[in-house]
Amino acid sequence: MNKQHTVRVELAGRGYDIQIGAGLLAQAGSLLGSFLSRPRLVIVTDENVARLHLSALASSLRQSGIDSESIVIPAGEQSKSFEHLANLCDRLLAAGVERNDSIAAFGGGVIGDLAGFAAAVLRRGVAFVQLPTTLLAQVDSSVGGKTGINTPLGKNLIGAFHQPVSVLADISLLNTLPEREFRAGYAEVAKYGLLGDSDFFDWLDANLDALMLGDAAARLYAVKTCCEAKARIVAADETERGERALLNLGHTFGHALEAAAGYSSNLLHGEAVAIGMGMAFRFSARLGLCAEAEAARVANHLERAALPASPKRIASKLRGAAGLMKLMRQDKKAQAGRLTFILARSIGGAFIAKDVEEKAVMNFLEQELSSP
Ligand SMILES: NC(=O)c1ccc[n+]([C@@H]2O[C@H](COP(=O)([O-])OP(=O)(O)OC[C@H]3O[C@@H](n4cnc5c(N)ncnc54)[C@H](O)[C@@H]3O)[C@@H](O)[C@H]2O)c1
Ligand SMILES: [Zn+2]
Repeated sequence: MNKQHTVRVELAGRGYDIQIGAGLLAQAGSLLGSFLSRPRLVIVTDENVARLHLSALASSLRQSGIDSESIVIPAGEQSKSFEHLANLCDRLLAAGVERNDSIAAFGGGVIGDLAGFAAAVLRRGVAFVQLPTTLLAQVDSSVGGKTGINTPLGKNLIGAFHQPVSVLADISLLNTLPEREFRAGYAEVAKYGLLGDSDFFDWLDANLDALMLGDAAARLYAVKTCCEAKARIVAADETERGERALLNLGHTFGHALEAAAGYSSNLLHGEAVAIGMGMAFRFSARLGLCAEAEAARVANHLERAALPASPKRIASKLRGAAGLMKLMRQDKKAQAGRLTFILARSIGGAFIAKDVEEKAVMNFLEQELSSP
């Protein structure tokens, strides 16, 4: 089996490669050199990644004659704020980043979204490379060019589409990821199977233990398959006018649950997405769109991955069905009292359902929160 894969994101004039492999960080200097206008790179990272992996990255760059400087941000979702963005931009300018320079986002989705957005606005846009270090970032957030920050009114409400010029996903970095973060990222892996690839879902069902236990070949295959799916969807619909919305499977329910839990460590993004995907399939079954057995299979798989599949898990944080409904209306996908959901006819058969009636959603939420 190959130890390394390259997946191409085809975008006219802005296409790029995602390189995936074990131990790629050691080759970062040679893999990134051609993207730099001069042999210098400013790395944006967080405290945890800096402690564990920054020296390896810096020394790989040095071996290829590339000087680096790093800017270390506090770890956690709180860093996706205006305050941290302003501070980061000032530090990038102070580090002498010019219009032709590139910066590197070295971390999970928080660093990718924040540093990517800084790259989008700094000097009206500088190039950036993604070096994702979490499972979530390797299969989802580092690919596709969505960047941004949160405001008190909600997640990702300020942002820009800004594609990276290259993505290097070193799956060995996942070995230091806390198990709970790995499992949360796994929810987004399962999402690709659930939304459009039942064969991949079958493969995940059969290889779940290997993935969780750190089998490198299984992880490589999973990350590659997810990146291929995301690359294909992004190439077809870069700015989410249509098909890209399928990647939001589980996210309308999930974002409301995250908001209800106060965007805290009570409920990680991937955990909220897992519950949301469980709900999306049960809701689809309730509407007669998909078989109950499919919804049960989804819940069973998520539970095997030690992920929650029911909102009752955080019931104490929710203000009932009405409270959840209110939060869902605030989500950016709500329009004129009608909600857009990603529903499914089967595992692998998700579709965009516009105009879902609030009343049907409300009845479903009441049932979800009350059933034993
Ligand atoms: N732009 C997009 O398309 C997109 C898609 C999905 C999610 N997101 C965003 O991604 C964010 C979540 O990303 P995340 O789950 O990667 O969270 P994260 O960036 O907060 O990382 C999770 C934790 O793991 C630590 N960490 C990272 N890499 C590590 C490693 N190799 N070893 C040990 N610890 C490590 C981090 O310091 C952090 O504490 C959210 O803000 C979400 O909105 C963006
Ligand atoms: Zn997500």
